[in-house]
Amino acid sequence: MEIIIQPTYQHLVSIAADIVKRALLKKPELVMGLATGSTPIGLYEALVRMHKEEGLDFSAVTTFNLDEYVGIPKTHPSSYHTFMETQFFRHVNIPVENRYLPQNTAADHGAFCERYEAAIARAGGIDIQILGIGREGHIGFNEPSSSLGSRTRIKTLTRSTLEANAPHFGGDIDAVPTLAITMGVGTIMEARQCLLLANGASKASAIASAVEGPITAEVPASVLQMHPCTVVLLDEAAASALKRAAYYRQVYANKLRLLGE
Ligand code: GLP
Repeated sequence: MEIIIQPTYQHLVSIAADIVKRALLKKPELVMGLATGSTPIGLYEALVRMHKEEGLDFSAVTTFNLDEYVGIPKTHPSSYHTFMETQFFRHVNIPVENRYLPQNTAADHGAFCERYEAAIARAGGIDIQILGIGREGHIGFNEPSSSLGSRTRIKTLTRSTLEANAPHFGGDIDAVPTLAITMGVGTIMEARQCLLLANGASKASAIASAVEGPITAEVPASVLQMHPCTVVLLDEAAASALKRAAYYRQVYANKLRLLGE
């Protein structure tokens, strides 16, 4: 894991956007795994800016979203379909047929999940997976106790996740869907690169467990310790419970020095 600690949220999203931009310039037909939630919003804003101001071209990109609620229509204002449309898709030139999201209205969820996995494989696998982290260490909607080898499937959301997401449903916890379709931990682990973003003190404990704790299904993000190419981008508050923060800063400073940046 490469741990990068930055003074502010804006700094961390600009580094994340730069990593995506470099990957896209190297491989125009990049396959991106996308996350929702408040954390990646600044990253999408930065990518939209690069598209509009620098002509960053997404016309050959394919995207797969991590997760979606079950039980609300795609057009619901808090669905992840709506989120992606509003925050990213309508502002860049990714062809509609290249955008994949879990279908919360599928008649047969099991069959849909198998088709989703097959579509990822057909696209050649995910090159860069964007990730946020839940307060209890979930990635996607893989709640604590998720199998570390799990594939795309339906999950039941924990009370903590329902509480965290209630503000998107008018503050009413009973309005938050209790089920979601999510890529599995095993699916995420097959991405060639993972970019995990976290900001704010509410993520400090989950980040400390994921980065420095034991690898355990209790903290699904901790399995990223086994991933060969994961970058963890943090602001000071999200990094505040890390024991080795000084060392991570030193490693990153040395990297920049070696790269002459
Ligand atoms: C949600 C999403 C995750 C997201 C996480 C953190 O439940 N399913 O993909 O990473 O929780 O959300 P936020 O970025 O809003 O803190």
